[in-house]
Amino acid sequence: MLLEDTEFIDEMAHFDRERIPERVVHAKGGGAFGYFEVTNDITRYCAASLFSRVGDRTRIAVRFSTVAGESGSPDTARDPRGFAIKFYTQEGNWDLVGNNLPVFFIRDSILFPSFIHSQKRHPSTFLHDADMQWDFFTSRPEVTHMLLYLFSDRGTPDGFRFMHGFGVNTFKLINATGHHVYCKFHYLSNQGLRNLTAKVARQLQVDDPDYSLRDLYNAIKSKKYPSWTLYIQVMTEAQALNSSFNPFDDTKLWPEDVYPLIPVGRLVLNENPTNYFQDIEQIALSPSRMVPGIKPSPDRMLQGRLFSYPDTQRYRLGPNFLQIPVNCPLHVRNYQRDGPMSYNNQGDSTVYHPNSAADSLNVSERAGVLSPAYFVNGDVSKYDNGGEDNFSQAANHYQNVLDEGGRVNLVKNLGSALSSASEMYQRRALDMFGNVSPDLKARLQRKLGLQ
Ligand code: HEM
Repeated sequence: MLLEDTEFIDEMAHFDRERIPERVVHAKGGGAFGYFEVTNDITRYCAASLFSRVGDRTRIAVRFSTVAGESGSPDTARDPRGFAIKFYTQEGNWDLVGNNLPVFFIRDSILFPSFIHSQKRHPSTFLHDADMQWDFFTSRPEVTHMLLYLFSDRGTPDGFRFMHGFGVNTFKLINATGHHVYCKFHYLSNQGLRNLTAKVARQLQVDDPDYSLRDLYNAIKSKKYPSWTLYIQVMTEAQALNSSFNPFDDTKLWPEDVYPLIPVGRLVLNENPTNYFQDIEQIALSPSRMVPGIKPSPDRMLQGRLFSYPDTQRYRLGPNFLQIPVNCPLHVRNYQRDGPMSYNNQGDSTVYHPNSAADSLNVSERAGVLSPAYFVNGDVSKYDNGGEDNFSQAANHYQNVLDEGGRVNLVKNLGSALSSASEMYQRRALDMFGNVSPDLKARLQRKLGLQ
């Protein structure tokens, strides 16, 4: 071997740099492309260009994922599933970064790193650790509602096609006159809901760890295109002010009898990626990526997420990640220039604002209407919101949403997860679930063999 073998050096040096950091959460995933088609007019709520005409289609990219496992981890683990959609609209990209379960564990973003640390590997044993998991869960009872979903069979969906999607956090929609409503997004599977029992899910972890990726790829390849119907729930400012629950708390559902689902359109996946790394590993999805007509609400989790995603993406993919084709908007019009890997540096277009050039960004008039001022007052302080009604919706879920078969499986799944935790955490969990229902506590107590 000689240094003059430059092909060797190029080949090996590139190979040595093939890996980029995996996502800090949601590392294992798969995805596809397709379209969104408007079926119902919602322009009275939202002026976003993609909703402007019934029949209009917008290209989409979707990434599905599990949350806690590393990038090679098995697909059928008990975990929420990420279900994130990028809409390539005429006014920029809109990302709807949701999950398959309608609520979340915590309601304050400062707790997210700790929550995730408790679910990942122990710092010394490097093992998943039931004590860490249940120490965190039983110290933050706002997780209860989510745990009833996660430990039911909805925590092990049958692949990605047979599950729903939910935006989870509350957003704000603004119409052409500047009027706003708050909004939750739901995208319900037209294939129906199908879950795996814990036993089948565990077996598949051994037999086919890439079960969900394979199922999605094969369905699209054989032209069985999966689809979902997009709905919104809307709440006026007056309703939000008078609501009996905090509408910006993502551990809560908005009751559908008061805030009915309003149909919007259809999401269809009909195109597999041609290169996984290019299209799926490098896709950067973020709730901060919004278009005129869609804004954040005061939801404390959402506010924290708005910072976290683009921040991690600058680290994971580099500061010019928006130039990667899968992330690039249809029309690029900004003043960002230079930096590493800037392969589309916008030629000779103007690099400052305001300017007098003919190609100047001329979007301010519409953006003005769609960013109306809003009123804020009150004292500012840091406080713990862990005590805000943690059990009433969870109790309703246990009594009225789950059927008897669902309750049996819930107890089985909770019991099996808790059986690896120390007795102290088991007892704390019993107290926590006792606030949901004395029946749930009694069944779990029997399952764990505790007096
Ligand atoms: C991915 C942070 C809550 C859904 C991520 C990533 C981070 C993150 C850093 C990796 C992004 C990347 O590398 O591109 C947070 C923080 C949260 C939070 C700080 C709370 C404060 C949530 C909630 C949901 C959610 C409530 C569901 C609505 C997702 C999904 C992905 C993801 C679906 C994967 C996106 C993809 O497929 O690339 N999150 N997250 N996260 N998060 Fe969150």
